[in-house]
Amino acid sequence: MENHSLITQEIHYVGVQDRRTHLFEGLWALPDGISYNSYLIVDEKIALVDSVEAGFFGQSLRKIKRIIGDRPIDYLIINHMEPDHSSSIGLLKKYYPDMILVGNARTFGMLEGFYGVEGEQEVVKMGSKLCLGSRTLEFYITPMLHWPETMMTYDSTSKSLFSGDAFGCFTALSGGIVDSEMHIEPYLDNAVRYYSNIVAKYGPQVQRALQLLKDLDIQYLCTLHGPVWHDQIPHMFDLYDKISLCKAEEGVVIIYGSMYGNTEEMAEEIARELSFNGVKTIKMHNVSTASPSHMLADVYRYNGLIIGSPTYNAELYPGVEAMVSRLKNRGLKNRYFGFFGSFSWAGTAVKLLADFADGMKINVIGAPIEMKQSMTDADRKEVARLAVEMAEAIKTPF
Ligand code: FEO
Repeated sequence: MENHSLITQEIHYVGVQDRRTHLFEGLWALPDGISYNSYLIVDEKIALVDSVEAGFFGQSLRKIKRIIGDRPIDYLIINHMEPDHSSSIGLLKKYYPDMILVGNARTFGMLEGFYGVEGEQEVVKMGSKLCLGSRTLEFYITPMLHWPETMMTYDSTSKSLFSGDAFGCFTALSGGIVDSEMHIEPYLDNAVRYYSNIVAKYGPQVQRALQLLKDLDIQYLCTLHGPVWHDQIPHMFDLYDKISLCKAEEGVVIIYGSMYGNTEEMAEEIARELSFNGVKTIKMHNVSTASPSHMLADVYRYNGLIIGSPTYNAELYPGVEAMVSRLKNRGLKNRYFGFFGSFSWAGTAVKLLADFADGMKINVIGAPIEMKQSMTDADRKEVARLAVEMAEAIKTPF
């Protein structure tokens, strides 16, 4: 029976689809699942590039066996040690005890620490090569994309780059493997979400990697999550260049928390005023119901951000506080930022949002709006002023 795993010249897809897990890393929503991609290169020597989450090991192993039968795997190339890719390495070693593990100096400490796996190892550095017979793989060390041991592997014969998590996206594959085999828009959106959730803290490292890769002829960009990019490679490189510099499209994201609807009412009023001032892209998120994953994606997509919070126990509203912490952690910059808040007897939230703005490379737009208990006509005038200034500001890209 014909095997449909082949992507390009002797490179087979042996990854799996996870439609069971609700939260990736226990944090990020997976409404449409996620793929754990693994690739088998069949040459005179056989190399497996990364593996799958342990719960899916059987599926991946059966795919491997259908391709190579009883031939052994000679090398496991470990581009990334996060357990969504590495947790089946111990099982793989049981099936293929002579398989040589290929990683860099940072890989093997983690391998020992996580799994206690031993056996023959090949430690590679930037530019190291590994001959499989008719082809030679070359290694690019790309630390902090998004872990310290992350690296990439390039096959110049098929012009394929195995890029680890970089260029990956949420959403399981549904039949198609290469982007040219599917309607790609949902995956492109989820590549932004994936970047904002997983990679965003490491923009400078992304820029360094793009410099390293800029002269490679890449026809197949084989990531660890999502489609193999082929048609969309220029788009993905452009996206990574822009998003890693925190460049964004014109639009405003409003993120707010609300206990009894007063802060929410102000958020709605701001949105209406923005619309009245010609802003067509306005994304609203109530932190109590929106997924942090999707909120972050919108923050990374659009250049205007407005955050509102009631004062809660003399702090920010918890969901807002968590979001602000995520943005600080990622070093968000290049945004037009407005903020507002409410209090019942003593205001703190607006001051804390001002502190957040002070610590970030973002441009504060308008005056902060702080209301006591509920919105007054004077507050509405401030809202209108903020909306006018924000609508004007976002027309100028950073
Ligand atoms: Fe897909 Fe960082 O693991």
